[in-house]
Amino acid sequence: MKKLRWGVMGTGKIAGTFAKAVPLSETGILISVGSRTQEAADIFGNEHSMTRRHPSYQSLVDDPEVDAIYISLPNHLHAEWTMKCAEAGKHILCEKPFTLNYPEAVRTIASVRKHGVFLMEAFMYRCHPQTAKLQELVTSRVIGEVRVIQAHFSYNMGPKHENIRLSNPAGGGGIMDVGCYTTSMARLIAGAEPFELKGVGYIGPISRVDEQATAALIFPSGLVANLTCGTQVGVDSELRIWGSEGNIRVPNPWFPGEGENKILVNRAGKDPDVVTVHGSRGLYSLEADTVAQYLEHKEAPSPCMTWDDTLGNMAALDAWRRSIGLVFDAEKINEVKF
Ligand SMILES: NC(=O)c1ccc[n+]([C@@H]2O[C@H](COP(=O)([O-])OP(=O)(O)OC[C@H]3O[C@@H](n4cnc5c(N)ncnc54)[C@H](OP(=O)(O)O)[C@@H]3O)[C@@H](O)[C@H]2O)c1
Repeated sequence: MKKLRWGVMGTGKIAGTFAKAVPLSETGILISVGSRTQEAADIFGNEHSMTRRHPSYQSLVDDPEVDAIYISLPNHLHAEWTMKCAEAGKHILCEKPFTLNYPEAVRTIASVRKHGVFLMEAFMYRCHPQTAKLQELVTSRVIGEVRVIQAHFSYNMGPKHENIRLSNPAGGGGIMDVGCYTTSMARLIAGAEPFELKGVGYIGPISRVDEQATAALIFPSGLVANLTCGTQVGVDSELRIWGSEGNIRVPNPWFPGEGENKILVNRAGKDPDVVTVHGSRGLYSLEADTVAQYLEHKEAPSPCMTWDDTLGNMAALDAWRRSIGLVFDAEKINEVKF
């Protein structure tokens, strides 16, 4: 089988993680990198044994040897470079959150649709069999009707104001960085969009983004969800789901790994059950393989991120930011109503 030839856009932290994962995938080969500087592209190329090293993102987009591009840039650059990749006929795996806001996501997906390329938002946990198993347990009503979800993802990175996560112009903040995971999980388990979302959050005076935030959501079935995220405080990131006939606990919802992963199921009147899910490869290798597997279909099926799923998630993130009064500089400049 012909391998999918990957190019990596950006040379930051997660770009390095993905570059290590591609050679461990079943379908991909890493061949090219693009950076803002030749120096960074060369360092990255040396580290990951790649000879094609571009001193600009456009030069990577124009690389005729590349089939698919992994966009690992700060959030405010995702829309622009997804559209440029699409125009050049490259398949795209774009980091989360997909864009700065819902209107930008709509425009970007319209461009992807027009150019007929593959696109997936890189929520890697969605490509792991643990997430598929969890979805199956919930939809088969193992715990009856789901009524409450609690999802947290929060860590303490300290006051590193040079980091994109503490930058308003880069579209940073806890909601965009990790709240997007909790939102996507609640929507997946609910199998619907929330009809109301109310949030509160602390916006730092220097970062001008949310540093800790929480949201309450209600879905059409009556299911309520409580989400917490942040960049300045560590919170247990366990996922809890309660239903009419039991509950489910997922100790490691965001980074399920290779080997054994456990989902704990408690059903009323029955012994606790441990459902073990094997990850055949690392999380990011599975993600790369997902792109290759569904290339012809242009999007991967749920629980991987479909285009509609991405749009629904961006709308929910907009609602969360709106309720805490967080507006990005780019939205003020462009007067985007989000
Ligand atoms: N799925 C996951 O597990 C996961 C984990 C972490 C992050 N992410 C996502 O991946 C993206 C990148 O995160 P990261 O942690 O890798 O960030 P990072 O380490 O700061 O790297 C970002 C890269 O983007 C490029 N860049 C372009 N303009 C920039 C600017 N104005 N400021 C800083 N960097 C700029 C740089 O590459 P060049 O210098 O080579 O141009 C830089 O190395 C974000 O969207 C984030 O949400 C996903």
